[in-house]
Amino acid sequence: MTEQRISQHLLPDSASILDGRLVIGGCDVEELTRTYGTPLFVYDEDHIRARCREAVAAFDGKVAYASKAFLCTAMAKLVHEEGMAIDVSTGGELFVALHAGVPPGSLVLHGNNKSESELTRALEVNIGRIVVDSWDEIRRIEQLVEKGHDAPRVLIRVNPGIEAHTHEYLKTGVADSKFGFPMADGVAADAISYVRESPSFVFLGVHAHIGSQVFDAKSYAMAIDALAPFVVASGASEFSIGGGLGVAYVSGESSVSIADWAAVVKTSCLRNGIDAIVHAEPGRSIVASSAVTAYTVGTVKTIPGVRTYVAVDGGMSDNPRPVLYGSGYEAFRATDADAERSLTVHIVGKHCESGDIIIRDAAVPADLAVGDILCTPVTGAYGHAMGSNYNKVLRPAVVFVARGKARLVIERESYSALISRDVG
Ligand code: LLP
Repeated sequence: MTEQRISQHLLPDSASILDGRLVIGGCDVEELTRTYGTPLFVYDEDHIRARCREAVAAFDGKVAYASKAFLCTAMAKLVHEEGMAIDVSTGGELFVALHAGVPPGSLVLHGNNKSESELTRALEVNIGRIVVDSWDEIRRIEQLVEKGHDAPRVLIRVNPGIEAHTHEYLKTGVADSKFGFPMADGVAADAISYVRESPSFVFLGVHAHIGSQVFDAKSYAMAIDALAPFVVASGASEFSIGGGLGVAYVSGESSVSIADWAAVVKTSCLRNGIDAIVHAEPGRSIVASSAVTAYTVGTVKTIPGVRTYVAVDGGMSDNPRPVLYGSGYEAFRATDADAERSLTVHIVGKHCESGDIIIRDAAVPADLAVGDILCTPVTGAYGHAMGSNYNKVLRPAVVFVARGKARLVIERESYSALISRDVG
């Protein structure tokens, strides 16, 4: 199987291939690896800004970036500058967003098990919104308000008993999920009635997130059809459709734009008589294709009659998605990104796990060799964010590039950092 040059739609907006060399944001990627080492995440800052602007325009400013996809202070600042709110789902994400100087009023707190200290911090800073997920959380918030905090503005997370998967639409009879209040048996309606009556809450509306990596915008239309009677009856003044818009990871896949997604969501709400203000919280579609990961090839092992393994200097610690979800990626060489890719290999990481395979049956140039810089595109979401330092492999550095300049936004982890919390 011979693959031609990597599809432009998998690369960041500003990417170009000059004399075969991959250039992002005006910076030569192989040269960046000489300065910053590998593995290296290279993010196209203008690409992220463009997606934020598209989302803000499409959702009339009522849109939060789901920071679980990728978060650091530079990212939080950028997203805030572009007019998006930020969805944080733990005390840690809340801490980073506040540290970046994002006003608390622009933050939305999520989570199915918010601790007392996470909720206390959210109330102390007067967070924009809390998306309430359980009866235990309702009681926890009430106790904190009784101690003197102001009543928070809340949405109730509803589990519609509907799940959208990548290509199929699955309606589950029973709501089997750890997230939200099931719509079934009136549980979600009871939670809303309770919160509306309680002086400990300012009820704003309903939230539903139907899944992630959803390719077909029709799934949203169908979900809204199912949710609408409930949303209307709840008297919600806000309705958040969550995130989940899918992106293309490999050649042959294509995705819906944020603008088209928003159009489907807004039209479906109108058609169903939902007059609440529509909110959304995309993560992946803002940031996934804005980045590539650059690795150095360390070994090329050909097992006669079996296959060739190409090992790079990262793996499941910087991209656990292939291991967790069987997700596919592409790979190409940074210095001849337009080369024919006629060799089929397994690209593997350096971890002590046979399953540490980044790409099965990847198409790569036939002369791929030790020392080459190999890039995997579309690694901007849920890569660095879900990284680990398994095997005490150091977490990679992250650079933002734009208009010919690179800036380091996350340093490579150091060996001393590995023992900084190890108190012996
Ligand atoms: N809102 C809520 C309440 C969510 O739970 C999520 C994602 C989002 C928004 C953003 O969804 P996105 O637009 O990024 O799809 N680790 C998985 C994805 C987990 C998504 C969890 N929640 C992956 O790598 O595919």
